[in-house]
Amino acid sequence: MTIAITAASGHFGALAVEAAVRSGQEVVAIARDPGRVAGRPGVEVRGADYDDPAAMTAALAGVTGVLLVSGNQPGKRVQQHRNVIDAARAAGVARIVYTSAPRAATTSLVLAPDHKATEEYLAASGLAWSVARNNWYNENYLQRLPELAQSGVLVAAAGSGRVASASRADLAAGAVEALTGAWRDGAIREFGGDVAWDHYELAAAYAEVLGRPVAYEPVEPSILVAGMVAGGVPRGTAEFVAAMDVDIAQGALAEVTGELSALIGRPTTPLVETLRAATAAA
Ligand SMILES: NC(=O)c1ccc[n+]([C@@H]2O[C@H](COP(=O)([O-])OP(=O)(O)OC[C@H]3O[C@@H](n4cnc5c(N)ncnc54)[C@H](OP(=O)(O)O)[C@@H]3O)[C@@H](O)[C@H]2O)c1
Repeated sequence: MTIAITAASGHFGALAVEAAVRSGQEVVAIARDPGRVAGRPGVEVRGADYDDPAAMTAALAGVTGVLLVSGNQPGKRVQQHRNVIDAARAAGVARIVYTSAPRAATTSLVLAPDHKATEEYLAASGLAWSVARNNWYNENYLQRLPELAQSGVLVAAAGSGRVASASRADLAAGAVEALTGAWRDGAIREFGGDVAWDHYELAAAYAEVLGRPVAYEPVEPSILVAGMVAGGVPRGTAEFVAAMDVDIAQGALAEVTGELSALIGRPTTPLVETLRAATAAA
């Protein structure tokens, strides 16, 4: 089977390409800048922007299945995803998997409306489709390591809400398996980690890998925004971060489904392992 993976220049897409090669697929890696995709045997790199349906149709020529990795431009990406879905149909692609968000159709997650709209378009597309609803990446928590090494205080508005995160590599392997393994048309897979942790446990994981005490200081969203703005973060960004924390506090990312580890045939990577690998590499 020849499969195409979009956004192959991104962190997730690159890991999906690796997973697909490991599982013996012929892979077409698509990126808007092909020069940003690492060349490897068994992978053909093609260029196409989500904003260019004709180029995307050409890039999907001869492809049986496509993994559509969600774009990173809220406001533009619903149309971009529609372009890829239309291009897949025009190119005669048989099946498509889209990377979505947990419980996208019903959740209050601030990021979900783009994913919900894409899922709806996909379901009406006439293509054989499936959705990989990804919980948070473990890697989302790497960027705070330097700050916490200094301050030892994890300020967040996530209350005691839990996050069933998994590593990007786990989620990428799951998405590839959803596309290439036993096919279930219309399957909605809720992918995440085997363990859901709260911010007290996140602070403990930071403490373990940093070798210093780290305490979680839960705050109200308005206090978080004020602190971030005082630290130079643009208000819109601070409000977005706070809104995601509120989602966590309300349990939007807490569900452990076990679907990912069942599909990839191994336990998901614990958060602390991802943090440890990053600190060891630094
Ligand atoms: N579950 C989570 O925790 C989580 C966290 C962050 C993001 N996400 C979602 O998952 C996606 C993949 O995550 P990631 O970590 O791989 O993000 P990433 O490293 O930022 O990669 C984003 C990818 O999207 C590509 N892209 C953006 N606009 C495009 C366009 N107009 N045409 C073609 N390609 C375009 C980028 O291409 P360039 O390399 O050319 O920029 C890049 O390959 C993100 O885009 C976002 O939707 C999920």
